[in-house]
Amino acid sequence: MQINDQVEADRWVGVALDSQIQSASSHPVILNGRELALWRGESGPARVWDDRCPHRGMRLSFGFVRGNTLRCLYHGWTYGENGHCEAIPAHPDLAPPKTICASTHGTAAKYGIIWVNLSATRAAHVPDLPNQPGWLPVRSVHLRASAPQVLDGIAEFDYGEPARTSMPAQNACVVVLGSDTQLFFALQPIGLDKTGLHVVVNESGEPQIPRRQRLARQVARLRDTIEAGGGGVWPSPRTL
Ligand code: FES
Repeated sequence: MQINDQVEADRWVGVALDSQIQSASSHPVILNGRELALWRGESGPARVWDDRCPHRGMRLSFGFVRGNTLRCLYHGWTYGENGHCEAIPAHPDLAPPKTICASTHGTAAKYGIIWVNLSATRAAHVPDLPNQPGWLPVRSVHLRASAPQVLDGIAEFDYGEPARTSMPAQNACVVVLGSDTQLFFALQPIGLDKTGLHVVVNESGEPQIPRRQRLARQVARLRDTIEAGGGGVWPSPRTL
């Protein structure tokens, strides 16, 4: 399958942890080779657009957030949350035509993860997970491996305790450790041999920050092991 075929498929893909995207910030993101701008205004949800200004193609992720608008770095064209151009500094008296619009994409925040859908129809739903409330961020990492290699690596790991693995959707994986801990892995295919991995945890009982910090270090070990060729053992707490 070509990368561009994957881009247009009607599916939701996790591209970041919601907690990573601060208000009034913009970030470059790549999904299946397609360059995107992930940004959040001073209030409200994050948004994902093509990383290309409709004027002369400057990356919008380089731009500035002002209020709930995104202003292009190059000539200052300013885009509202719906993607329409609202102001052109070189022509302050001109009302920009509605045809000047950034290319916007479906965006949702669920389970502490920001999801994007690049299809025009957006008919699919964000995957349903068990035990829906209470997901907390662990860590995002990038791996030098394909998404299938990363999924295999997650499934084949020896977690050092009883573990059950399931895939609620393509590029999504749940690992249940013991009786009270669920890890959710959202895979972001970046290119043929590069993948983003966004991890959240759901535990029964009170959230334990030290445990989440330990899980974050374990995710880094998982990344290193997959990049080294797979196999390996989920590190015991005593070795971290
Ligand atoms: S390229 Fe963005 S305003 Fe000119």
